[in-house]
Amino acid sequence: MSRIAYVNGRYVPHAEAAVHIEDRGYQFADGVYEVCEVTRGYIIDMSRHLDRLDRSLGELAIAWPMSRNALKLVLREVLRRNRVRDGMVYLQVTRGVAKRDHPFPGPATRPSMVVTASRIDPAASRRNADTGIRVITVPDNRWERVDIKTVGLLPNVLARQQAKDAGAQEAWFVDASGVVLEGSATNAWIVTKDGKLVTRQADTGILRGITRTTLFDVAKKLNVTVEERDFTVEEAQSAREAFVTSATKTVMPVVAIDDRPVGNGHPGSVAQALREAFFDVAEKTSA
Ligand code: PDD
Repeated sequence: MSRIAYVNGRYVPHAEAAVHIEDRGYQFADGVYEVCEVTRGYIIDMSRHLDRLDRSLGELAIAWPMSRNALKLVLREVLRRNRVRDGMVYLQVTRGVAKRDHPFPGPATRPSMVVTASRIDPAASRRNADTGIRVITVPDNRWERVDIKTVGLLPNVLARQQAKDAGAQEAWFVDASGVVLEGSATNAWIVTKDGKLVTRQADTGILRGITRTTLFDVAKKLNVTVEERDFTVEEAQSAREAFVTSATKTVMPVVAIDDRPVGNGHPGSVAQALREAFFDVAEKTSA
């Protein structure tokens, strides 16, 4: 079955789906995006993802390309046409097509919107969670507004490649004082010796992950305390457990940081319990 993408009002074969060469997303990374997890035919935390999209669009003064309800229909339709029941749905909105010039174009320029869906094998994801992943740390060289979910992801791409080259699956951005900010496409967490969850406060220095937000609710249900504060690479390396969260990784145990094992070097029980409880708590919208 061939894949189908949504591009500016049309459902087109994936191989033929294209945007204009003067799309501001292509030329300036002048756009925002969202990724929603899809599990067993449900879109996970769609309301929170659309709320963050609203915020990202607002921060960049890009108009919604269509109403929120129409957008939900498009997400579902792309999933349906691609028969994706486990995987992700990706949506990108840019400021649209305009003659290349740095300032925003006039109001006649309509935002562009692209939606794609892809499968993630749930069994492979479970196997990863059973073994845990390795992360490396990299200096944070991203721009200062990473709280906006923009498509300007070049530093993230380079960091992830560096992780791959080092035999790791994720890279954690670290600021000049050794504080862990977040991963290239995940939020970073540790579990302290006394069983508390720690993740960095969500100001403008990290992306406020939807999975991160929902995990606060999961922790509450499991009676686990969460602290939002700075933690260093050293604290993470000597923590009881570490893990990452995102719409594509859910809760993924980390077993090594810069080649130093975390805990006993195996996925920890707290991360596993959070992973198991996640879908009981997260919002589930039929895809
Ligand atoms: N990335 N931090 C960054 C830099 C991210 O790109 C992401 C998600 C997260 C976690 O956010 P959420 O829980 O809302 O997925 C944190 C998506 C999955 C991606 O780019 O593929």
